[in-house]
Amino acid sequence: MKLTILTTALILLLVAVALVIVLVLFLRARNRNANATSPSTATGAPRQPEPALSPTAGAAPAPMTPAAARETLPLPSRLYHELLEEGQLRPDPDQLAVLPVLDGLVTALRQPAVRGIWRGVEVWRMGDQRPVPGGLYLFGSVGRGKSMLMQLIFDATEVTAKRRVHFQPFMRELQERMHQNRPPPGVDLMLFIASQIAAEARLLCFDEFCVTNIADAMLLGRLLEALFKCGVTLCATSNWPPEDLYQEGMNRGRFMPFIKILTDHTRAVNLSQGADWRRSQGNEGDDTDAALAAPDALFIALTGVAAEPLHVDLQGTEVAANGVHKRIFWFDFNALCDRALGVIEYMELVGQAKALIISGVPVLGPERADATMRLVVLIDLLYESRIPLRIFGTAPLDQLCTSGPVAFAFQRSASRMHELAFLLRQGLAGTRGGEAAASG
Ligand SMILES: Nc1ncnc2c1ncn2[C@@H]1O[C@H](COP(=O)(O)OP(=O)(O)OP(=O)(O)O)[C@@H](O)[C@H]1O
Ligand SMILES: [Mg+2]
Repeated sequence: MKLTILTTALILLLVAVALVIVLVLFLRARNRNANATSPSTATGAPRQPEPALSPTAGAAPAPMTPAAARETLPLPSRLYHELLEEGQLRPDPDQLAVLPVLDGLVTALRQPAVRGIWRGVEVWRMGDQRPVPGGLYLFGSVGRGKSMLMQLIFDATEVTAKRRVHFQPFMRELQERMHQNRPPPGVDLMLFIASQIAAEARLLCFDEFCVTNIADAMLLGRLLEALFKCGVTLCATSNWPPEDLYQEGMNRGRFMPFIKILTDHTRAVNLSQGADWRRSQGNEGDDTDAALAAPDALFIALTGVAAEPLHVDLQGTEVAANGVHKRIFWFDFNALCDRALGVIEYMELVGQAKALIISGVPVLGPERADATMRLVVLIDLLYESRIPLRIFGTAPLDQLCTSGPVAFAFQRSASRMHELAFLLRQGLAGTRGGEAAASG
């Protein structure tokens, strides 16, 4: 009898222990899901505000990557050397010198991060109370490989919460988020938005960081501050050293504190030496090809039909085009840039276009600064999407804009136009080779 009672008690004890184990496993799995990297994590109702960043509050360790995957994924230096071996890159002493820094950042990002609560929003923090890895600010003149190196960091980073953004669309997204979001009482709007972005991007790769007006300057500055508080690691590329950002801008003093925040959270790496790789790859071409001598001939070569004028609807604005066929667009500079069009309309065009021809570009002196700036914005967007472009101007590309407030920005655009013109020549060769590069 006693034995039966003892056996039953033992069985009950074992069942209880098993139940506890199952319950613990279930709770851990639930916590892990709650701390996963989906955007919805941060958009949910924030918890009670906390006085200070507390490393353990509201978060269970949520390793971002399985250990096995971490070991196998190549570091940026390895990716770079693979591209060298494949002949896609050529050795560049400055780039080679910076590879250990890139590897260091990626290695630091491979450490597990956890989600916690700070001032009512979810933030990232490292396990073991380590500081969040400091980011990188790659700066230098055009075509030095900054974006390419940033892409290596992005590709080698195993965390799923990573994003690569481009200045113009990102600012637009930020403005939309500012309009759409209503943070709970007591939660700062910018911190709330930063927390949303952080949930999607523990690593934020920000291509072409620049500040051109006081509205952007203040918005970007406040966002950066909030992003760093949310534990985001920033990797930025820019043509300006941090201390020169928004150099000539109005009320620059108000932006200065943000430069300090930026330099406190990123390591600035100068890639200014050396040549523009876009020009040393045979991108400049001599264009003796008859099809490239005039816009109408090029339009026919690309589309197989003669151009007919029509109007194109860009987000509700009618823009006169010289011809549109099979998503090949031909505009005059004045119709496209010398009027009140902006990022929204140009993004629409870039979304529609397979290739673009812009003719009649005059010499762009200081009196045409606004139109020139629009062209620069358009080229940035086209370049980001690698849309082939051919410009027909009254002077060679590099001499179209040599003075005035936009001259520096234009030099970068000129470098890009060379590369996009190269893509167009390649497409043309493909069309003639029967590959129908301009079809669809
Ligand atoms: N070492 C290299 N060898 C060959 N090509 C390179 C090398 N580095 C960069 N490139 C190529 O040069 C072009 C320009 O590089 P990238 O866009 O990274 O320059 P960037 O510094 O970001 O320029 P920008 O300031 O205009 O944004 C790209 O097509 C890139 O693949
Ligand atoms: Mg770049």
